[in-house]
Amino acid sequence: MCGIVGYIGYRDSYPILMDGLHKLEYRGYDSAGCALVNPQGALNIYKAKGKVSSLECIATSRDCTGTLGIAHTRWATHGIPSEANAHPHVSESGNITLVHNGIIENYATLRSQLEKRGYTFKSETDTEVLVQLVEYTMSLHDEDLVTSVRIALKRVIGAYAICVIDRRHPEQLVCARKSSPMVVGLVDDNREYFIASDASPIAQYTNQMVYLKDEEVVVCERGQSLRTYNLNGEEIDPEVKEVDLDISMLSKGGYPHFMLKEIFDQPQVLRDCMRGRVINAPYSESPRLSVVLNAVTQHRRELLRARRLIIVSCGTSWHAGLIGKQLIEHFCALPTEVAYASEFRYSDSVIESDDVVMAISQSGETADTMAAMEMAKRKGAFVFGIVNTVGSSIARLSDTGTYIHVGPEIGVASTKAFTGQVTVLVMLALALGMAKGTVTQEEYEEVLEELTRIPDKIEKVLEQNEKIRKIAATFTYAHNFLYLGRGYNYPVALEGALKLKEISYIHAEGYPAAEMKHGPIALVDSEMPVVFIATHHQLYRKIVSNMQEVISRRGRILAIVTEGDEEIKEMVDDVIEVPSTLSCLVPLLSVIPLQLLSYHVAVSKGLDVDQPRNLAKSVTVE
Ligand code: AGP
Repeated sequence: MCGIVGYIGYRDSYPILMDGLHKLEYRGYDSAGCALVNPQGALNIYKAKGKVSSLECIATSRDCTGTLGIAHTRWATHGIPSEANAHPHVSESGNITLVHNGIIENYATLRSQLEKRGYTFKSETDTEVLVQLVEYTMSLHDEDLVTSVRIALKRVIGAYAICVIDRRHPEQLVCARKSSPMVVGLVDDNREYFIASDASPIAQYTNQMVYLKDEEVVVCERGQSLRTYNLNGEEIDPEVKEVDLDISMLSKGGYPHFMLKEIFDQPQVLRDCMRGRVINAPYSESPRLSVVLNAVTQHRRELLRARRLIIVSCGTSWHAGLIGKQLIEHFCALPTEVAYASEFRYSDSVIESDDVVMAISQSGETADTMAAMEMAKRKGAFVFGIVNTVGSSIARLSDTGTYIHVGPEIGVASTKAFTGQVTVLVMLALALGMAKGTVTQEEYEEVLEELTRIPDKIEKVLEQNEKIRKIAATFTYAHNFLYLGRGYNYPVALEGALKLKEISYIHAEGYPAAEMKHGPIALVDSEMPVVFIATHHQLYRKIVSNMQEVISRRGRILAIVTEGDEEIKEMVDDVIEVPSTLSCLVPLLSVIPLQLLSYHVAVSKGLDVDQPRNLAKSVTVE
């Protein structure tokens, strides 16, 4: 949560900072601000409540000159969204200013200590103590900025990614991180440095990046090599990585919203996800198709000796985990549990050294998922990551893993990451099942063959976009929705309900269909839309009976069915068809109409689809 951008070089920093903030706005949009040191050495700070565009309305007509600047887009934790609480925050003297992403847990203690020494506070944030603490440390030790930041951070408990500048030293910018991400882009023999919370604002300038590690402090100085220190002041060699991001993924590509683009990107990104992993060898004896995942090849021993798999994740990634459990248990006969990372990290779960813990995360920065992994590692488990963001914290923390490679996901509501995660889980279950000998050659090939057809089948579902838009427009009145499915479609019901809640602000619940009569059916009346995911698979006839129960109570049904299902079409108000597929792959198709449904309901209600209220794309606080 919260996005940070910094720049030091020879160009005007303001346009670079604003462009970067727009790219990071998915991380939070409660307020935005920037600090620029102009050529005369004055520090200009502009802030606005709300989105980056509100900041631009204020700042653009003012003095925005200067080749050193920092900027921030906020997701509020301590203090309401307001101009006063917006970053950057400034020290007592007005010389030092700072932006921060994370939470300072001991801020109250630090604040009262600083207040006793005469420091005054203008905001309710935890961040303001950091900038005051840096200034206080500087006054005590008479040290330079980097040393003062380093010493100050030793007193801090919590998570931080910070960019700090001192008006009196416009030749340098200091950054540091602990448990919150920060990337530094190196350009043109160190003539300029770009800093950001992730690589997306930097990728257009350079592919040479340094991902800061925990408790590292770096100094970016024009014309000087990057200097990196640990909190004890020992110099460390920065690890420069070549990161190539597909910049076209960072634009809407003609779609009105990122979410819609990302829904429509799914056929192509799933092909990308399988590329080089599902191998077609038409002239080989057998198998013609095979799946090769480096993580499984290289860590065969750890994976084969596993007695249990525990999947930890949050939100949509947790729903993908529920599908993963069914896949792994079916193809690998490996007992699998799925835990909310936020619960698991504080639980007394018994973890053995022959357990494998699998973390699933789009962003690779979710604080609870990271903490769950750390806990599992401490207890000796082998940790496998399924991550989208290359080089992210979770990717680095994993003992091994598989990227989903679906490109940056900008819309706050996760779509292509979900189908990418499920695709990787299918490949993983098959690869591991083959290694264990728990899947037959016939089933292995049948599933792989069908997996390669899924992108084309998703295209067929997407052709119904207009029909789904019309259906969605009739649902804007609703205050509640029920989503029901069974087997592989149960997690899809949960995911459909989450999508609707997130962007349409309509209360929705997902249930296994058979649970309906144990309570939720009491809610059903003519006002209550019920979405059944009723494809031709496990327990189809039983779901049809559940539909009858809803119809008898005059509930309004929208059913996701297999192409050609005339029976359900006769029974219910609306149907959306998906092509026929294997039950273990059906989530990859049945989720698509639900993504589009939530999207169109939100658009019909005039809501901000890509930046829904109160949410942020990556939840880096617990
Ligand atoms: C999904 O639409 C959500 N925005 C959210 O539930 C998300 O899936 C969750 O925060 C987990 O994020 P991660 O995959 O980046 O770890």
